[in-house]
Amino acid sequence: MEEFKVTPWEVSGRVDYDKLIRQFGTTKIDGALRERMVRLCGGDEPHHMLKRDFFFSHRDLNLVLDDYEKGKGFFLYTGRGPSKAMHIGHLVPLIFTKWLQDVFKTNLYIEVTDDEKFLNKREYEWAEIQKNADDNILDIAAVGFDPERTFIFKDSVYVRNVYPLLMKTARKITGSTAKAVFGFDDSTNIGMQFYPAYQVIPTFFEKKRCLIPCAIDQDPFWRIQRDVAETLGYYKTSAIHSRFLPPLQGITGKMSSSGGQETAILLNDDEKMVKNKISKYAFSGGQATVEEHRKLGGNPDVDVPYQWLNILFEPDDSKLKKIHDDYRSGKLLTGELKAILIECINAFLKEHREKRKKAEKLVERYTRNGKLATEMWERTYE
Ligand code: TYM
Repeated sequence: MEEFKVTPWEVSGRVDYDKLIRQFGTTKIDGALRERMVRLCGGDEPHHMLKRDFFFSHRDLNLVLDDYEKGKGFFLYTGRGPSKAMHIGHLVPLIFTKWLQDVFKTNLYIEVTDDEKFLNKREYEWAEIQKNADDNILDIAAVGFDPERTFIFKDSVYVRNVYPLLMKTARKITGSTAKAVFGFDDSTNIGMQFYPAYQVIPTFFEKKRCLIPCAIDQDPFWRIQRDVAETLGYYKTSAIHSRFLPPLQGITGKMSSSGGQETAILLNDDEKMVKNKISKYAFSGGQATVEEHRKLGGNPDVDVPYQWLNILFEPDDSKLKKIHDDYRSGKLLTGELKAILIECINAFLKEHREKRKKAEKLVERYTRNGKLATEMWERTYE
């Protein structure tokens, strides 16, 4: 069996998600829990990422839903480590988070970790990271969160409001815990060893349960949070984890900003670039020749264009099923499947760019003067 590795900063190999659940000690989302979510959606269809088991694992999601049903409510928290350009994989948790916010009408906190990026990526200067962070915030805002119930903040800017709580939290996390959970060693800079305390802090923003939608690579942070939360007078956090949107080259690892231009679709790729990348690099589950493909059919399970349609770009179940069946039977050719994906991505990116333009006017409400943002700037955490 091929080995795989999943940490918040590195994912490699073909991830065995069942094994990962056991390694991380999380819980699989089973049929009963999924049905409970569907029921609570008020008759609406659940998001296709939930329906199709892309969000597949959780911690204490049932407790969050209990609190919701009791009328106590809960809040959402997610985040982003800013880089030059976001890729479509980064939108996955954000799109799902927006769906959760729309359904459950909750507050949402989005942490932009300029500090983490600076500490972890030696090639970046501080000023460049600030530019990237501000640019990424526009892409985040374009997802369309409720501007009165959403607070987006950069760590370095909001730190004053949380410093005492950050200290209280950091004091509870020993070096050996950080080493064991994150694999830090003596060459890891001490900033990085401290940083996890800050990623824990937003789970304490309200005295309610916190639900964190993210890919499963972020889970080690929640393990630390769950060790210290109750001793600080807060709830252990809940989380709902996704698998990874794979890179263009095949279904191992994850799409990542550092994987190189030809492994990811960036949010600012133009139509020609999208067409070029998909045609040239997208790993195909099709056969080597048209004749063979017609005879033997393709394999959607390893086909990156099919997987991307499944995860992100084709929410319509019946359309997706037809693509799946036609590809399997050999009726749909690799080139034709890629053409479907190229059209979907270009339509998606066009809409994203329009939303991003409109979001320029909204950014201040998310970061400064919307209802929740105003409250957050008036509040300090001790
Ligand atoms: P970052 O910027 O590496 O990733 C942002 C979010 O995107 C998810 N993600 C992916 N999801 C699906 N497919 C992929 N290929 C893929 N690549 C990344 C990540 O799991 C993450 O949810 N330390 C964090 C920032 C952070 C955060 C948080 C994230 C701070 N607080 C709370 C989630 C929740 C980071 O650098 O994320």
